[in-house]
Amino acid sequence: MLTHLDCTKCDRRYDPGQRLNLCECGAPLYPRYDLERAAREMRPGHLALREPTMWRYEEVLPVADPEDRISLGEGFTPLVAASRLGALLGLPRLLVKDEGNNPTGSFKARGLSMAVSMARVLGATDVCLPSAGNAGSALAAYAAAAGLKAHVFLPRDIASLFVAETRAYGAHVETVDGLITDAGRVCAEQAREHGWFECATLKEPYRVEGKKTLGYELAEQLSWSLPDAILYPTGGGTGLVGMWKAFEELEQMGFIGPDRPRMYAVQAEGCAPIVKAFAEGLDEAPLWEGAETHAHGIRVPKALADFLILRALRASHGAGVAVSEEEILQGLGDACATAGLFMAPEGAACVAAARKLKAGGDLAPEDRVVVFNTGTGYKYVENLVQAGWNPAAG
Ligand SMILES: Cc1ncc(COP(=O)(O)O)c(C=O)c1O
Repeated sequence: MLTHLDCTKCDRRYDPGQRLNLCECGAPLYPRYDLERAAREMRPGHLALREPTMWRYEEVLPVADPEDRISLGEGFTPLVAASRLGALLGLPRLLVKDEGNNPTGSFKARGLSMAVSMARVLGATDVCLPSAGNAGSALAAYAAAAGLKAHVFLPRDIASLFVAETRAYGAHVETVDGLITDAGRVCAEQAREHGWFECATLKEPYRVEGKKTLGYELAEQLSWSLPDAILYPTGGGTGLVGMWKAFEELEQMGFIGPDRPRMYAVQAEGCAPIVKAFAEGLDEAPLWEGAETHAHGIRVPKALADFLILRALRASHGAGVAVSEEEILQGLGDACATAGLFMAPEGAACVAAARKLKAGGDLAPEDRVVVFNTGTGYKYVENLVQAGWNPAAG
């Protein structure tokens, strides 16, 4: 029931039957649906009987024919009531959405399952993106399952496991000096030269549709209510803007009312362009120079969707929060020791941010707070050791 694609910045509208990246004006495109029809078919009682993957929301997803889904079982991850961690942070109603349970170990599986499915439907043979690690391995895995060729561009200093895993799925992998923005430049040049379809964050319209299922799942897992606050580790921000889109769609379909959670974009002190732009009242976030953090997924100096992220933070009465490398390690240690969750450092950053927001009075003990653990910590051991992690020290 995909009807068309809308530009997120201007009033251009596109037919979805073509392989598109950005709008002519350079902004991301959002898929739109016949939500009246979706509301009739996607009743809560029907949903309860469906498969426990993100595809249970098929009426509001772009892949029309179930045969065209490239699925490894992504989504419908647990919303863990982390009561000991909550008690430690003074937030007894804390919940952790644990995305480490996805295929390839991160929430990137959602977006790349969707993007690769659509790329294949629309006739692509080669797909490419720059990545901090998780998106690359997810693209490679789904491309392998789809029979497409993946090309992945990674910063040279990422943990070696990501490179090995991505190559194991049969992808062409290049490591690039610098950050994800540098990898993105090389990727875009090669895509132009070879005619590959670019799947960089929000540079094609469908990854966000996979990520938006995070919002649908939260609402369904909380019996069609939303939490008071959501803490999301923000690099390109696809999950944050995806959830925001999901909440709008859910309201239009009558599943929820107008209340929204306060959305908090969590970043590292060494790379906090959104936090800075939010604090300065800007509508877009200038490039962050000299980005540095061991949480490589949020080492993103410039986000294409910065204006959408900032808009959601302000409309929800949320904020940007920056945490230090030490606070991230502390968050990881706390999550391991009190929740049994070996989080990715990006997830650990959200634990650290929860502590900070509670101390500053932005989060109250009665708040139902959802912290996103966006990936498994297993792939990051190298980064963590480099950052000074020493689990033996307790
Ligand atoms: C584990 C993890 N968390 C968070 C992010 C940031 O995600 P987004 O680009 O949607 O903000 C990434 C991106 O690489 C990641 O790998």
